[in-house]
Order: sequence, then structure tokens, then C-alpha cells
Amino acid sequence: MTKFSTGESSSHVGDDYFLTSGDKIRFFFEEDAFSPQTGELTKPKHRAINKIGHYLHELSPPFRKATFTPLHREITKAIGFRDPRVLQSMIICKQPEIGGRVPPHQDSTFLYTNPPSAVGFWIALENATVENGCLSFAKGSHRRSPVKSRFVRKEGGGTGFEDVKGARFPDELEVEEEVAGGEEHYELGEVKAGTLVLIHGNLLHKSEKNLSGNSRFIYTFHCIEGQHQYDDRNWLQPPEKGFSRLYES
Ligand code: FE2
Repeated sequence: MTKFSTGESSSHVGDDYFLTSGDKIRFFFEEDAFSPQTGELTKPKHRAINKIGHYLHELSPPFRKATFTPLHREITKAIGFRDPRVLQSMIICKQPEIGGRVPPHQDSTFLYTNPPSAVGFWIALENATVENGCLSFAKGSHRRSPVKSRFVRKEGGGTGFEDVKGARFPDELEVEEEVAGGEEHYELGEVKAGTLVLIHGNLLHKSEKNLSGNSRFIYTFHCIEGQHQYDDRNWLQPPEKGFSRLYES
């Protein structure tokens, strides 16, 4: 009965079911799928799941096929990866009426390497619209927003955020001044089903609640540079065989 939230309160994403999901396919509920009075599900199960993760790219044949493609290999080469490793994959459901809001964040906060290298491959499985809670992006923010905090396993158990002590921008990135007051302007990213969106790990993005009658299913996986430092503070720890190479060189 683990619910998923990237929101301000993160205590419930510190449980064992979440922390050991890196090499499994597990299901996380929408926070609003439960009655506050009785604690019972208010939706059928297939309309109550927020996301499914985090090892679809190895354990689910169709998602494995959709991840390790020649196109994705060429993209990682073109954007400068030397040894791209797929470290997690998810289906995000954004269910009708209860699909949760995701506050502004940078993916490298959750998948920190030193220096940062995470890139999200985000594939719309349905049209993503304003009504069903499409993503919004702060254009160019990857050049001016350092990764200041990272999501880690806390010593006494559970998870929390801690200051980034290593690099806060990728090595070769041309960095600009931070926006005064930290106020970024977000632009809607409505896209058609089938669209691939690449999300730089420093880019600020968010999405609003889905109050519409339509779901907004997407598939996403993330790559990091295999040659960069990935330490044992990260919430997501590699399986025994290490994170999956996107291709054998
Ligand atoms: Fe994200």
C-alpha cells in the first residue's frame, strides 16, 4: 500500500518496498486514491496506481525492447555519453481525477552522479495536454540551476534531502547566472502520444494535478554516465550486475 509522492513530505517514500524496487517491478498508489475517512481505495486498482517501477527495462520484455533501441543509442552518442547506463524505468500513470501534482524539481536531485549526468527519456503513451497534467519546463534552466540537493538514504533508515557537496553542473556545460529570487517561468509542454522528450538532469520541470477524465500514461527511463561517480548515498542502488549498459561498445 505504498503511495508515491515527490512532494514536500517524503517520509513514505523511505519504506522498504520503495527502497528495494530498483531491480523489481513494483506498484505505487496515487495519494488521493484512498478515502481519508476509511483509508479504503476509492478507485478500481487499475485507476489507483500512480507509477510502476523501477526495473521494467530489464524485467518487462516490451519495455526492454522500447528502451534498448538504435535511436536511443544514437541519441546518447550525439549528446556526449561515453558509457550510458540505464538506471531506472517507470510507467507514470497520472490517473483521471486523482493524478498527483509533481512540484518543480531536477531529475539529477534523485539520480545524482558527480558530476551530474542524468538525462530522462520520456515517452508519451497518450496525448499529454494541459487538462490531463502535461509537463511544464523552465526553458534554459539547466544552464542556470545548480543541483543543490540530492535525495539520499538516511543513516537511521528512510530517505531525505542533503546538500550536494560535489559538482552541481555537468562538466562541459556553459553555465549562466542563476535567476534572481529563484523565480522561473514555466512553459507548457503539450505533446502527442509517441513523442520522445529528452530532459536534462538540471532542467527544472513540473506537472499539475490531473483533474480531467483522461489518464496521462507515459514511459520514462533515465541514463547516467557510467564513468561518473555514483555513491552509496543515493536512494537507488545498483543491482548486483551494475546498471544496464544502453549498448555494448
Ligand atoms: Fe522529473
